[in-house]
Parts: sequence; structure tokens; C-alpha cells
Amino acid sequence: MCVTVREWSLKCTMHHLFFIPLTTTLHISYVALNFRSMSDKQNDCLPEDPTWPELKLSHCMYTQTVRDIHAVIENEWDSVKLSACQTAAGRALWKHVINDPFAEILAGETYLRSLFEKMMKDRLNKAREISGVILAVRTLWFDSKIEAALDSFGGGETQVVLLGAGMDTRAYRLGCLKDCSVIEVDLPEVLEVKATLLHSAMSSKIEHCQDVILAKSLTRVAADLTHIDWLARLQSSGFVPDKNTIWVLEGILYYLSQSKAMDVLKIIADSCAITRTVLLADFMNKASTTLSSSTYQFYSDWPEDLLPPLGFSDVKLTQIGDPDAHFGLLHDPMNLFNKLRSLSRSIQTDPENGAPCRRLYLVQASGSPI
Ligand SMILES: C[S@@+](CC[C@H](N)C(=O)[O-])C[C@H]1O[C@@H](n2cnc3c(N)ncnc32)[C@H](O)[C@@H]1O
Repeated sequence: MCVTVREWSLKCTMHHLFFIPLTTTLHISYVALNFRSMSDKQNDCLPEDPTWPELKLSHCMYTQTVRDIHAVIENEWDSVKLSACQTAAGRALWKHVINDPFAEILAGETYLRSLFEKMMKDRLNKAREISGVILAVRTLWFDSKIEAALDSFGGGETQVVLLGAGMDTRAYRLGCLKDCSVIEVDLPEVLEVKATLLHSAMSSKIEHCQDVILAKSLTRVAADLTHIDWLARLQSSGFVPDKNTIWVLEGILYYLSQSKAMDVLKIIADSCAITRTVLLADFMNKASTTLSSSTYQFYSDWPEDLLPPLGFSDVKLTQIGDPDAHFGLLHDPMNLFNKLRSLSRSIQTDPENGAPCRRLYLVQASGSPI
């Protein structure tokens, strides 16, 4: 089978771990490699399954509808919207730790192949981290914190609002949402395409892709978070301001400008005065936004200082690799994340090699009426 990729810099950067360049063009031959023979202990976060190296896409990826949709995505979407598919590719290819059967069809072949090739190269080069691991850890962290927040509410009706939901399928995959109304917010084009792709997956009867929503309800709200009307749109679609709410902002804040991101955070903080509120969000530090100054805008080097004045309390910040953001996926003690964790957070460049200290902070904050 032939796939196409471009030669990658094997230098380990957050960009390398996170994203797939959009200009993926060269031709490569796919060779089924037997990774079992490798004794790269560093990479034992990947499954030992000998079939793993084969990227087998399900038949429904090749239906005309799915191909047409992904052609439109690739030709017409900008990098911000495309990030939804790239993130889904991460979940699809880290399926040994994330159960997201819809992720493959939502990601599309191009992004799956692209990330897959990077993972293969990482394995061959005995990289200290495998591409996409940061997405896997982030997803698992959000999953675990959503469940913990629901437990902390001790039952009762809860809303889970996913801002910049992209190709997130938590409403279909997390049993802990059974009593929750889930509301997904994203740009109209993204939600439209997502609904069509999910429908295709369900009607193709791919294994485990059933039309079963585990959440109590699921509502999709097309809204632009940079427009002032997004909260009104949410409210007119069933969001209840005084219901316990978990706000999930996974991979979204840094796509907004500094002022728009602050507006979103302020709106969520205001809800702390009305009802029990939990915010779960990831923040890039300033150095991370230099990866793509045209795409990444908002950053905070100190989210724990930024959030309390807005109205949040109990802010807890986690770095990738911390005990609650590890999930057994970062075995090499010399991995990039451990290196960053060993350096003071005020340090902007690695004293050993001058590389920018690019960090992704996982933050939970909460608030409730006094
Ligand atoms: C990196 S993806 C993350 C998607 C999802 N949260 C996940 O983790 O899989 C970023 C998402 O934010 C959405 N987004 C970016 N800017 C937005 C805006 N102004 N309004 C609504 N959604 C936006 C994009 O369309 C995209 O789906």
C-alpha cells in the first residue's frame, strides 16, 4: 500500500508530538514492520500487538460520501477547523488507551496516515516520546477530570458544555455522562460535517459504532466563540444557567485572541456566582504560541494567577507527565515532559540547548455561589 508523507524533523518538539503539518505530500511505501523484535523499552507505551503496525482503515472510510466530505475538509477548511480532525486522528491511533470508535472516520484518511507515519518513525528512531502522546494524555486527563467533577457534585442534573467540541465524541463514549445533558459548541461547518460523518459510521454498522448516546441528551450548538451571541445561542438551545455545569475547553483557548479568550473565561467565571461550576481547560504558555504565530494566539504562563481574579477558586494546574497526567504513557524518564517539569516554570528557554520551553498546562478550576 502506498502512503504519502514528508520527511519530518525528528527533533522532539511539542509541535511534533501534537500536530501534523498540513502539507503532507511525498510518496512512501508502507512496509509492515515487526516492532516486536525491537527492544526499545522506551517505547513500551505502544501495544505489543504484532498487527499494530498495519493501519487498517474500516470499509466505511472508502464510501463515496465519506471521501467527498473529507475532500471538502481538506480543500476548504482553514487550519483552525482542521485541528478538529488532527485531534481525532490522535485518539484513533492511540486506541489502545482511548476507546473512541468514531475517531477514525472523523479524522479522515490523510490525517490518520500522516500521524501513523510519524508514530512509525518515532518507533524506529527510538524516540523518547511517540507522536500524539500529548493528545492521548490530554484526552485521558479531561475524561478523568469530568468524571471526578461529576462525583464531586454528588449526583443531580449536570450540564457538560464542550466549547470548541470539534470531533469530540464523549457523549457516545463516557458512561459517567448518563445523567448529563451534553452540549457541543463549535463552528457550523464543523458540526454539520461531524453529524454527517457520525451518521455514515452508524449506518455502515462499523464495529462498536452504534447510534447509542451514553449521555442523557446531546445538543449541538453552532456558534462562533468570538461573537458576542454565543451564550445566548447556548441558552436558546437548552443551556440552563442555574444548573450545575462542567465547562470543557479542550484545545480551544489558544485559537482565540487574547481578548476573546478572556471574554470566554469571564463568562464562565460569572456562572460561578449562579451555580456550581467546574472549568477544565488546557492553556499554552507563551513559548508554545511561537510554534505558529498565525494560529495560536491566547496564552498564559500562569493560569493559576489569571483565573482567581475572574471568580474561580480551587485552581489546580497539572503538567503533562505529572502523576494525574501520565497514564503510564511516558515511560522514558528522560522524556521531554519530565525535562520541562524539572525546570522552573519561569524559565523560557532550555539552558542546555536554548530550545523554547513549550508547555501545555491542564487546568481545573471551580466556583460556586457563596
Ligand atoms: C484542536 S480542535 C479541539 C476539538 C475538541 N475539543 C477535541 O479536543 O477534540 C479546536 C476546535 O475549536 C474550534 N474552534 C476554533 N475557534 C472557534 C470559534 N471561534 N468558535 C467555535 N469553535 C471554534 C475548531 O473548529 C475546532 O473544532
